[in-house]
Amino acid sequence: MDKLLITGGQPLAGELRISGAKNAALPILAATLLSDKPVSVGNIPHLHDITTTLELLGQMGVDLMVDEKMNIEVNANHINKFEAPYELVKTMRASILVLGPLLARFGEAHVSLPGGCAIGTRPVDIHIDSLIKMGANIQVEAGYIHATAKRLIGCHLLLDKVTVTGTENILMAAALADGVTIIENAAKEPEVTDLAHFLNKMGAKITGIGSDILTVEGVERLGVENLRYEILPDRIETGTYLVAGAITRGRVKLKNTDPRILDAVLVKLREAGADIECGDTWIELNMHGKRPKAVNIRTAPYPAFPTDMQAQFTALNSVADGIGLITETVFENRFMHVQELLRMGAQIKLESNTAICSGAEHLTAAPVMATDLRASASLVLAGLVAQGETLVDRIYHIDRGYDHIEEKLTQLGATIRRVPN
Ligand code: EPU
Repeated sequence: MDKLLITGGQPLAGELRISGAKNAALPILAATLLSDKPVSVGNIPHLHDITTTLELLGQMGVDLMVDEKMNIEVNANHINKFEAPYELVKTMRASILVLGPLLARFGEAHVSLPGGCAIGTRPVDIHIDSLIKMGANIQVEAGYIHATAKRLIGCHLLLDKVTVTGTENILMAAALADGVTIIENAAKEPEVTDLAHFLNKMGAKITGIGSDILTVEGVERLGVENLRYEILPDRIETGTYLVAGAITRGRVKLKNTDPRILDAVLVKLREAGADIECGDTWIELNMHGKRPKAVNIRTAPYPAFPTDMQAQFTALNSVADGIGLITETVFENRFMHVQELLRMGAQIKLESNTAICSGAEHLTAAPVMATDLRASASLVLAGLVAQGETLVDRIYHIDRGYDHIEEKLTQLGATIRRVPN
């Protein structure tokens, strides 16, 4: 298993291009199952989770063509298996996203139930209950969700909790259902919006996009000739490199991104003392060599502060001036990085779902272990400022969601390299 070796201490300086959003690419690739015409998708990030999705689609019988720039052409017209097996689902929970499209188009889906994971129990009851309300027959047996339906029927849904992949699964199912589906308390994350735009490009009739009430008028079939879609930029990758600039007191310019979907993160970085300038497709952060100031964060569904940036801001607060409170309200156990940051000299006290961070003058390098994707990112960020050489183990978590992280950080002047075990 590869590790990352980071020598901390240099302020980062430079420019880089942001990749397409993982959490938009995953549902959009799943949504290609709904189309009876080939679909071409661009700006796909180079990530393990994408490879896993392609493997999942491939083993169902989907024809896939991937070029060297990660443009993917998908033809879902020869599917002969309607299953997401445990071996794939256990490595990527987002495999649950094939449930809605398979059921809606082929009337059948067998998807392994995702288990708990490092950040919490993460049930999928809302996905299942909503599909049942739409007329699906669902049995959960021997760890699998077995779903069948002649044709799903549109209905009025009020989701008990804001769920991103839950909203996405329902949207995809409703697109081919008979009648109108109204989804209240829908997730408004930009990735959900990107999926809705993609579905409409395929011929779906979704209105209310970007709001928490989505209305879907079901259609008989989806698919248009020569459809080409570009995935939106990754706001979490963008935010992570902005924090890399801030934590090292550096200056970074990120291109091919979209400042409009990073509001809450930019507000907090400015509060931390960053000078930030934005254009339509770029963001530049400059700390002018200053130490960041501690900030208080409370995670919540979009447009509030994203839980996927919580760990990175915990690392930032670890070296900031002052005391910062980080409150996690989306997942019940998303503080696994705290134990590792403590080993690097961070001063953090956990009280229920709040991390109280007293900024240390500096962190000290240590061997640390990644536990989930964003936790790993926070350890890399800490390594960039720690004195000495930090060795981050279990980086397969990072490769699931960060496109060529060591190359991108090297481009910004960091000393980081991948070392084989
Ligand atoms: N929840 C339920 N029942 C459900 C579904 C969700 O109780 O049926 C709860 C969850 O346990 C959690 C909350 O609702 O407490 C929100 O979870 P959500 O369903 O929104 O999360 P998700 O769809 O599984 C996506 C992202 C995550 C991101 C969350 C929150 C993808 C593929 N994953 O997960 O991304 O943290 O939304 O924004 O889109 C990551 O990229 O590192 C990552 C974990």
